[in-house]
Amino acid sequence: MTTTFAVLGAGDRGGAYARWVAANPDRARVVAVAEPNEYRRSALARAHGIPAERVFSSWQELAEAPRLADAAIVATQDSEHVAPAISLAGKGYHLLVEKPLAPSEERCRTLVAAVREAGVLFAVCHVLRYRPYTRLLKRIVDSGRIGAVVSVQHLEPVGWWHHAHAFVRGNWRRSDRASFMLLAKSCHDIDWLRHIVGRPIERVSSFGSLTHFRRENRPDGAADRCLDCAVEPDCPYSAVRLYAGMVRAGRTGWPVSVITDEVTEAGVRLALRDGPYGRCVYACDNDVVDHQVVAMEFAGGITGTFQMVGSSPHADRRTQIFGTRGFIDGDGDRLSIQDFVTGETEQLTVSSLGNDAAAGHGGGDAGLMDAFTTAVAAGDPAAILSGPLESLETHLAVFAAERARLRGTVERVS
Ligand SMILES: NC(=O)c1ccc[n+]([C@@H]2O[C@H](COP(=O)([O-])OP(=O)(O)OC[C@H]3O[C@@H](n4cnc5c(N)ncnc54)[C@H](O)[C@@H]3O)[C@@H](O)[C@H]2O)c1
Repeated sequence: MTTTFAVLGAGDRGGAYARWVAANPDRARVVAVAEPNEYRRSALARAHGIPAERVFSSWQELAEAPRLADAAIVATQDSEHVAPAISLAGKGYHLLVEKPLAPSEERCRTLVAAVREAGVLFAVCHVLRYRPYTRLLKRIVDSGRIGAVVSVQHLEPVGWWHHAHAFVRGNWRRSDRASFMLLAKSCHDIDWLRHIVGRPIERVSSFGSLTHFRRENRPDGAADRCLDCAVEPDCPYSAVRLYAGMVRAGRTGWPVSVITDEVTEAGVRLALRDGPYGRCVYACDNDVVDHQVVAMEFAGGITGTFQMVGSSPHADRRTQIFGTRGFIDGDGDRLSIQDFVTGETEQLTVSSLGNDAAAGHGGGDAGLMDAFTTAVAAGDPAAILSGPLESLETHLAVFAAERARLRGTVERVS
């Protein structure tokens, strides 16, 4: 069976999933799109040969039409997932919904209740679960090879320029317009840790703040825009170096495609002159944290720590898993597994096993689409690695951690 999709929001994420569909015509087809931005809407409609009557300027218009596809991909912004998901679930669309489900606990609960009530297939785009790296790691942990997991340590190095792009200048810079940082970025990691450990998170505490990207840290002589700035050549966060440098190096996709539809050096300079991405990182209206730690206790007393850092190399996550019979150290591609009985260490490299670890989110985007399409074709959720209740549970852990950070408390996840 070929699964048909409606794409709601033809931005960066909607576009990425649609490209998987285009590359897998025997598995899926995009048959409808809803997107207010004319350029993005026409580009996606053209690429998939979608007739005009199934091209809409908003998800609201698409939702008024009779059901047009087997499934919908909800890839609108964070605060605009709940309404389209509930509306389309009611029409019988199976749903692939971008993370986070919603910026509030209450709305996450509402969404999940509605989806369960409608009885449609449902997956959250927690793409890290679907990476070949994660599947291998999970198999090793579940095999008992390192004994029982006692503790886990996980680092998310966001990357200095990625942090500046998305969380200082970009769409996720303010918690009132998108989500707080842990929800916007690291809900992936909290969900992933729950998946790897295989137990719910029960209690959390957290520290973190917006320490660096503040007005008082602005260097002397800095201008409001990088294009006008005398100290720009010496600034690690220069937007000119970042975006123009990427275009010169032939990089035309994310993040350059986020700041301009005209991906040329001239187009970039125009965007930096007027748009949000040309602003000095010390003169933005950002408020989300630039570093945060979460300490957690899983069911059964297993402990874990998570650390998100904006001022870091742009690198993959690193994880250490401590078991009663062994230890695993992973960097997103390489897994090093030490056996406490023999003292020996085995090294496994996921990319060398024939997996495309360089593809979107280390192959997670493709893995998710493959699993979701399999589930829809079979009418069976087995291929989806987290059902609605587990996805809700990990969102609630994130909300509890943020409460703990703000209140200085230890919070129970419930
Ligand atoms: N799974 C992941 O790893 C991952 C990575 C990045 C972002 N995200 C999440 O994906 C979502 C989308 O992020 P993005 O980077 O693609 O953002 P984006 O801004 O590039 O795309 C969102 C699109 O939604 C469109 N839109 C706005 N109102 C609409 C409406 N009423 N109807 C239809 N479309 C509408 C916008 O015009 C835009 O093109 C966000 O919730 C984000 O947090 C997930």
